Amino acid sequence: MAKKVLVTHQLPGGRIQELARHCEMNVWMGPGLLPPAGLRAELAGCQGLVCLLTDRVDRALLDAAPGLEFVSSMSVGVDHIDVQALSERGIPLGNTPGVLVDTTADTAFALLLAAARRVPEADRFVRDGNWTAANAWAPGFFTGKDVSGATLGIVGLGQIGQAMARRAAGFGMQVLAWNRAPRQVAGIEMVTLEELLLRSDFVSVHVALAPATRNLLDAGKIALMKPGAVLVNTARGGIVDELALADALASGRLAAAGIDVFEREPVPADNPLLALPNVVVTPHIGSATTLTRARMADMAAVNAIAALQGQAMPCCVNPEVYR
Ligand code: DGY
Repeated sequence: MAKKVLVTHQLPGGRIQELARHCEMNVWMGPGLLPPAGLRAELAGCQGLVCLLTDRVDRALLDAAPGLEFVSSMSVGVDHIDVQALSERGIPLGNTPGVLVDTTADTAFALLLAAARRVPEADRFVRDGNWTAANAWAPGFFTGKDVSGATLGIVGLGQIGQAMARRAAGFGMQVLAWNRAPRQVAGIEMVTLEELLLRSDFVSVHVALAPATRNLLDAGKIALMKPGAVLVNTARGGIVDELALADALASGRLAAAGIDVFEREPVPADNPLLALPNVVVTPHIGSATTLTRARMADMAAVNAIAALQGQAMPCCVNPEVYR
């Protein structure tokens, strides 16, 4: 009998059609995202789950799906999933690293430039009809911060952090980095996190969210940042203390921030960062290009197909389940 697989969203890419040939596939057609109660109900009786980073896979969900044999997430980050609980049950978890590296680094650099040069603020200014003969041009008008020649500190020198460093090199930036595990990359000076924060004009966050990185940039660390520095976060909310960041930005101690990810998503309207003109925000779109999303969906489908065929997933977060 064909195994049952729940796919929690319609996915792009071509490989999802192939997955349908290997199983009885149930795709949530919306509207919107599959709510937690719906996920629980739809997953009962399934052997496989292909999910998004918005689907919380915790012990309670796993208890409600005792026949589950694999989970394949269309994401590189897996902080929405209790990996330990999966491993204890011998359930492999697939993810989609690699294919989103350049796209996400592009987003981070776009936010860095937009925050430094106040692009969204200037856009709003013009559209709101505030650009008048009285202020047509002046030496101090919409002045921002130079990117070329500045120092960039990269928090987390994985693949995306390194792609960020390559972009920074093109802008003549000096690049510092901190990584939890020792790492040497040509052209990048490895320093402690404290030194990075003290010396960097721009700080870009590229670590995964895990217990060890939750609140990594807390109020104390944010206080170490160079006056007038800019913070960019395209990694995960929960790594940066949002209230402490908002305070530092509101007081003018930090110049600006570019934030794609939030502690709570969608970000609540009363998040203090949203009230600040020197914060550029985007709705978790780091990997959002048509091609990259199709590649991620293809990887998620390929991981699921491998699991259905009794093979190891090509990209598995907890390969110890195969031992
Ligand atoms: C991921 O895959 O974890 C990213 O956050 C998607 O942009």
